[in-house]
Amino acid sequence: MTDPTWWRQAAVYQIYPRSFSDSNGDGIGDLKGITAKVPYLQALGIDAVWLSPFYPSALADGGYDVDDYRNVDPKLGTLADFDEMTAALHAAGIKLIADIVPNHSSNRHEWFKEALASPKGSAARARYIFRDGKGENGELPPADWTSVFGGPAWERTTEADGTPGQWYMHIFAKEQPDLNWDNPEVREDFLTTLKFWSDRGVDGFRIDVAHALSKDLSEPLPMTAELGVEGQLLDGSHPFWDRDEVHGIYAEWRKLFNQYTPPRTAVAEAWVHASRRARYASPDGLGQAFNFDLLQADFDAGQFRTIITKNLAEAQATGASSTWVFSNHDVVRHATRYGLPSAAEAGNIKPGLGQDGKAWLLAGGKPGEVDVELGLARARAATALLLALPGSAYLYNGEELGLQEAGEIPESERQDPAFFRNPGVDIGRDGCRVPLPWTAEGTSFGFGDGGAHLPQPEWFAEYAASAQNGVDGSTLEFYRRALELRHELQSAETQEWVTSPADVLHFTRPGGWQSVTNFSSEPVDLPAGTVVLSSAPLVGGKLPANTTAWLV
Ligand code: GLC
Ligand code: CA
Repeated sequence: MTDPTWWRQAAVYQIYPRSFSDSNGDGIGDLKGITAKVPYLQALGIDAVWLSPFYPSALADGGYDVDDYRNVDPKLGTLADFDEMTAALHAAGIKLIADIVPNHSSNRHEWFKEALASPKGSAARARYIFRDGKGENGELPPADWTSVFGGPAWERTTEADGTPGQWYMHIFAKEQPDLNWDNPEVREDFLTTLKFWSDRGVDGFRIDVAHALSKDLSEPLPMTAELGVEGQLLDGSHPFWDRDEVHGIYAEWRKLFNQYTPPRTAVAEAWVHASRRARYASPDGLGQAFNFDLLQADFDAGQFRTIITKNLAEAQATGASSTWVFSNHDVVRHATRYGLPSAAEAGNIKPGLGQDGKAWLLAGGKPGEVDVELGLARARAATALLLALPGSAYLYNGEELGLQEAGEIPESERQDPAFFRNPGVDIGRDGCRVPLPWTAEGTSFGFGDGGAHLPQPEWFAEYAASAQNGVDGSTLEFYRRALELRHELQSAETQEWVTSPADVLHFTRPGGWQSVTNFSSEPVDLPAGTVVLSSAPLVGGKLPANTTAWLV
């Protein structure tokens, strides 16, 4: 029987399915493509796959606009393909985590179509958030709130007879109407969905925007100027971010998860104040929550040290295990961020904010404007440090190739709503979603036989998996070795700092496993021990700048 604590220190590999591997040459990655790569995943040494949404979708937000929660997008395959993929992963000893998007459905969901076709005040509309507009003829939105992707968070509907009607709320794109979680039918339906996938063998769930489900939209709705900022709120008083009631929903989910053997796991994507994150990670709730602190930090010893210490203490206090992540489908790849003057400038995870750093990088676009070599060296050093920490490590497909952000996507080929809703401000997230290069040559670098749905730059060739396979010192071999060693060396979830110069981070794990990272610009001496891994070759027995070594 599987160990029920398997998730606590798992290395979880995120697959963005449309961009991973295309089995039938239509330019879109699919489930059969993933199944074909299971041997690759097994050789990489990961413990679990987190699959971003694979449900039927018009892709208004890369699949986070779900038409039907209990089906597979025909562009990606069938339920039978899903079962085949799950079986192949399980046979390889790899768990499967599915992405669940409960805050909003797509506007093509049966429920939303029914809501639009039904009158004001109907049960069909009560599954979403409909309101009359303000102004003489209801021509103004119910509140002045801005959507996360830019533009208003309310959209006006048109009645069956063509006259302008009520407005509905959408925190994200207008194709993503927010569901009403006060409605028992909505609650019940999601339990059915979670059961559906759990029964099909899914081992855990990643919960999209877990902090937005519960809402208090009693009148009068406050104006933006009266609201606090997401991620900085402390008291649960915001009308939709991080309200306390949301935990009642997850307590219900936990009961369902615990009916399975081993219990299904869950990890919250919750952009909340660090002091409120633990609630999402509670064993009576989802059990684990992402901590994006390192992702938002510069490559800086002081920042890393503070973040690590704080998060490990928090995990101990709550009983969850820590989560660590540098890259995902929403942010600039870390090999690129670390090649910029300040990672924090580019590490703008909140789609739509369009900080200067992000716009600068991607508007310029060429990786030449980033110090690619420095970025990759730091990314490898940071990854080795991350993999030595207690807790779960979340990796994003392509980072094991040292892949850089693809900045040079022409406007006409961009797909991300964050780009379209913020003209000239936010370049969006397409640059980290470009289909992976498997081979240095051939149509779409081995992604498939029929091109790629986002254009791949020529320089992808040098990052191809085939070009790195078996090559000593390649990023791919470095990841494989690190993950293999991590399995061997992993034990209790504790870590201890060893005194070191301010720009060096040195810690030990139980059993004598040591990790040393040199954040400075000069080589430093290594402690006593045998070096078993190094993110770059040692120089004269010393640890070079921007390098991590593991010793035993
Ligand atoms: C999460 C996802 C992001 C998506 C948003 C809306 O932040 O990670 O990709 O756009 O939710 O579903
Ligand atoms: Ca395909």
